[in-house]
Amino acid sequence: MLWRECRLRWRPCTLRLLALCLAALLCTHFSAELRRKPLSQPGLIAKAPAKELGVEGSNRRAEELPSKRQVIYVRRSSKGASHGRQEGNAGVPRRDPLQPARWHIDLQPWAGPSRSFEEEARRFLHYITESQIDCSRLVTNGLTNHYADTLKPWTVCLDDKFNLAHQIRSKQCRVYSFGLGEDDNIFEFNMASGGCEVHRFDPSISSAHIHEADRLWHHQLSIDWRDPNPAIAPHRLHRNTKKLKTILNEFGHWKIDVLKADMESAEWKILENLILEGIIEQIGQLVLEIHLHWPGFEVSGNDSSVVRYWFSLFKELEHKDFKMFYTYKDLSKPQMFLKKDVFNASSCYVLSWVNTRWT
Ligand SMILES: *[C@@H]1O[C@H](CO)[C@@H](O)[C@H](O)[C@H]1NC(C)=O
Ligand SMILES: *[C@@H]1O[C@H](CO)[C@@H](O)[C@H](O)[C@H]1NC(C)=O
Repeated sequence: MLWRECRLRWRPCTLRLLALCLAALLCTHFSAELRRKPLSQPGLIAKAPAKELGVEGSNRRAEELPSKRQVIYVRRSSKGASHGRQEGNAGVPRRDPLQPARWHIDLQPWAGPSRSFEEEARRFLHYITESQIDCSRLVTNGLTNHYADTLKPWTVCLDDKFNLAHQIRSKQCRVYSFGLGEDDNIFEFNMASGGCEVHRFDPSISSAHIHEADRLWHHQLSIDWRDPNPAIAPHRLHRNTKKLKTILNEFGHWKIDVLKADMESAEWKILENLILEGIIEQIGQLVLEIHLHWPGFEVSGNDSSVVRYWFSLFKELEHKDFKMFYTYKDLSKPQMFLKKDVFNASSCYVLSWVNTRWT
């Protein structure tokens, strides 16, 4: 019929044929989409937690099996389930595999319209000198009351409302400590003798791994914000550095109860990397020495931008429900802030946060 019409009236028929082709194309595309989607999301269907199934369980279970028609329902319900899991079962720091890759942190608005150094510095210094959550049991230098003035006050929180106290009691606690070989090891020894499995990463030791005490290991490794370039031959790399994500994968660990780091101004890019890759969510408490006398490795911009960047990193932590419970101003270091003697600031602070999603 169509063909006969076509021979008779050529022009309108071309249009009709075109429309038909277009409709056919759309149909093929749509059904291909439907077929593709469940394959790219296999984890979601398997992952709906038993707790969630329990509610509408029996009549939903059949529907959980992937079939073309139910794709949309399954996807939506899985999303809801993973959201519920985050709130309901806060102790499980599993990352959402669907979390999109991030390339830069979210910068906070400027502290004031003039974008001045003074406004930025005041906001930042105020932020790092006020703790955000009370800890009823601060413990300095690891599970003993021993504390000498010469030591840095590495401080964790053993308040029962946080996970660490329980982990230590059940001997399930794991500590990672990153330094550059300058530090004393009192914190690490004390955490190990208190029952934690302690991994100390120090590029200056003489062999790849040293098992020093029952629960204390030293590794000839350092943390970096990128992995070594595979194109460079290993013997030409002077430093053995890796991203924390890589170290965790290689060690087969998926959570760290306490991460302590004194990275001599590399802390900013390292912290940024932990945030961008979502690794920060696998950490229970974070104890960090920060250095403010210069912008830090690979941090650039004018002074206002640098301080705003530092501030934005800490706001990212806050956004991940990390609360600062301890802040210490080091008066033994030069009292300098970005090479200036201003605002009575020190060049060095020790700060501790607790991940309040791990309760
Ligand atoms: C610093 O740099 C930012 C962006 O590069 C600019 O917007 C701002 O005005 C500068 N601030 C000062 C005080 O120069
Ligand atoms: C400067 O800081 C020190 C130590 O935090 C404090 O004791 C002193 O009162 C501060 N000085 C001023 C002028 O704020």
